[in-house]
Amino acid sequence: MAGPGMRWSENTLVEILLTADQIQRRVREIGEQISFDYATKKPLFIGILKGACMFLSDLIRYVSLPISVDFIAVASYGVETESSGHVQLLKDVESSIEDKDVVIIEDIVDTGLTLTYLIHNFESRNPVSLKVAALLNKPSRRQVDVKLDYVGFEIPDKFVVGYGLDYAQTYRNLPYVAVLKNDLEVAI
Ligand code: IMP
Ligand code: MG
Repeated sequence: MAGPGMRWSENTLVEILLTADQIQRRVREIGEQISFDYATKKPLFIGILKGACMFLSDLIRYVSLPISVDFIAVASYGVETESSGHVQLLKDVESSIEDKDVVIIEDIVDTGLTLTYLIHNFESRNPVSLKVAALLNKPSRRQVDVKLDYVGFEIPDKFVVGYGLDYAQTYRNLPYVAVLKNDLEVAI
């Protein structure tokens, strides 16, 4: 199943949770739904680096609207320790979001702390509207309630990699989503 030229062995990964086909089908549905929901608008998609890069780049190909794209980067603290969840904005958007219809694009929502911080931060900048599209959702891990407008898949409490998601910066380029074999050891 691993793509051409990938050097890790197949038994590094225990289980393919979502195949590339499943992901593409669902991402297409979300793109079409967003195209419908924003029919007369020009939304600004803001991808959260680095994890959301693959989801965003596939998603926007299924959106038939004159969108624009920007990126932010965050460092989340508190996920490992399960503590208060400080989030630091490492890179901000390049243009103002005031008066824009903003769609935040996230790879996975786990405790919800990162998104909660970003939603508060963005809301204070007066966008016309603010919605969230997340490829993956782990509801069993939630610490703070956060409203997700578009969700690709709900997944169990397992540490997953691929399709943009990493473990120690590796595996982002897998075209599918998989659970690492030593999930318990790397679990955040
Ligand atoms: P939250 O603030 O706990 O919701 O954390 C969300 C962030 O944690 C995501 O944007 C990911 O970067 C990271 N994360 C959470 N779960 C996983 C996972 O299973 N695999 C890879 N990264 C994860
Ligand atoms: Mg992320």
